[in-house]
Amino acid sequence: MKKLPLFSVAIIFAIFITSCNNSTNNQTSTTEKMETKAGVTKAAWGTTDGKEVFLFTLTNAKGVQVKISNYGATITSWVSPDKNNKPSSIVLGFDSLSGYLAKPPYFGAVVGRYGNRIAKGKFKIDKTEYTLATNNGPNALHGGLKGFDKQVWDATPASDSTASVELSYLSKDGEEGYPGNLKVTVRYTLTDDNELKIEYSASTDKATVLNVTNHSYFNLTGDVNNSILDHTLMIDADNYTPVDTTLIPTGEIKSVKGTPFDFTKAKKIGQEIGAVSGGYDHNFVLNKKDSSLSKIVELKDSISGRTLEVFTTQPGVQFYTGNFLDGTIFTSAGKKINQHAAMCLETQHFPDSPNEPKFPTTLLLPGQQFHSETVYKLSVK
Ligand code: BGC
Repeated sequence: MKKLPLFSVAIIFAIFITSCNNSTNNQTSTTEKMETKAGVTKAAWGTTDGKEVFLFTLTNAKGVQVKISNYGATITSWVSPDKNNKPSSIVLGFDSLSGYLAKPPYFGAVVGRYGNRIAKGKFKIDKTEYTLATNNGPNALHGGLKGFDKQVWDATPASDSTASVELSYLSKDGEEGYPGNLKVTVRYTLTDDNELKIEYSASTDKATVLNVTNHSYFNLTGDVNNSILDHTLMIDADNYTPVDTTLIPTGEIKSVKGTPFDFTKAKKIGQEIGAVSGGYDHNFVLNKKDSSLSKIVELKDSISGRTLEVFTTQPGVQFYTGNFLDGTIFTSAGKKINQHAAMCLETQHFPDSPNEPKFPTTLLLPGQQFHSETVYKLSVK
C-alpha cells in the first residue's frame, strides 16, 4: 500500500476522532464550539452540586486527544492510534457526566486528600488524633466519602497553544476529617511527544497529610474485551510493601526477588498472578533514590503495538490489576468491564504512611509548597 505522508495521517486521524466524539456524545458536539483555544477546547458537560462541569479536549500536533473533566479532575479518554493507525482510548472512561455520578471506582480521577488507605481511618499529627470515614472495610480509602474525585474543580485552560489545563480545588479545614485548608492544583499537559504530564502542587494553613495521585485504568489494546493479563510489565522496584488481609502495609519493606512481585525484568502480568491472593494491589518501593523525575515503569501490549512508559518524582507506585472490577459496570459503548479489563499505575507515597514512621513522610506543614510530577508517555511500533 502506498504510504501517506505523516501530516495527512494526523489530519485523517483528527477528523476520525471528531466524528467518533460526535456520534457518542451529542451534548459535547453541540457545545464544542462554545470556546476554542489552540490546543484546548472547552465544552459544557452538565452540572452537579449546583456547579458547572466542563469537558476539556487537549489536542497535540499529532492529533492525539486527551479529555479531562473538572469533575474529579478526571481523565475521561486518551485516544491515540494503534500500530494499524486505528484510534482507540487506552483508559477507561465515560462519554457523559452521568457515568461518573454513578460512582465508578475512581475511573481516571485525581484521588485525595489521602489516596490509598489509612488504617482504621485514624492518624495522629503531634498529639492530636484525626478520624476519617471508614469507607473500605475497616479502613479509609482515597480521601473518604466525598474525596477529590467527587468534587467540581475550578479550571483554567491554557491561554496559548499549549494543550494544557490547570485545575484547582480548595479542600476546607475539617473536610472528610482532615485538618487544614488545603489548596491543591493539578495541571495536565499533552505534549507533541504523546506524553501526558501531570503536575500537582499544594499548600496548607495547618499541618496535614497529603497523598494525591491519578487513578486512570489502562488497557493498551483500547478494548476492554481484552484482558490486561497479556500486557508485559517492567517496574523498577527491588522491594514492595506487603499487606495484611485488609490491604494495609505490615510495615515491612520486602525484596521482590523470587516472588511473583518481581517485575524488575519485564514479564506478562498474568504469568504469576495466580500466586497472588486476589491479584496485584500492592505498593512498589521504587529504586530511584531521590525525588527527581525518573522512569519507573514500562508497559507493553503486542496486540496494539502500544508502549506506555511512566516517569515520576514519587517514591512508590500502586500496581492494581482491576481485581474488583466484576462485570457490573459497562462502558459507554455497552461493553462489560470484567475483572482485569484494565489496570492502574498510581504513582504515590506509600499507603498508611501517617501511621508508619519508617515510610517517607506525607506530612505537609504550613509554609511548605508541595510539588510532584508524573508523566505517562505513549508510543506505538
Ligand atoms: C486500590 C484498590 C481499590 C481501587 C479502587 C486502588 O487504588 O488499591 O484496592 O479497589 O483503588 O477503589
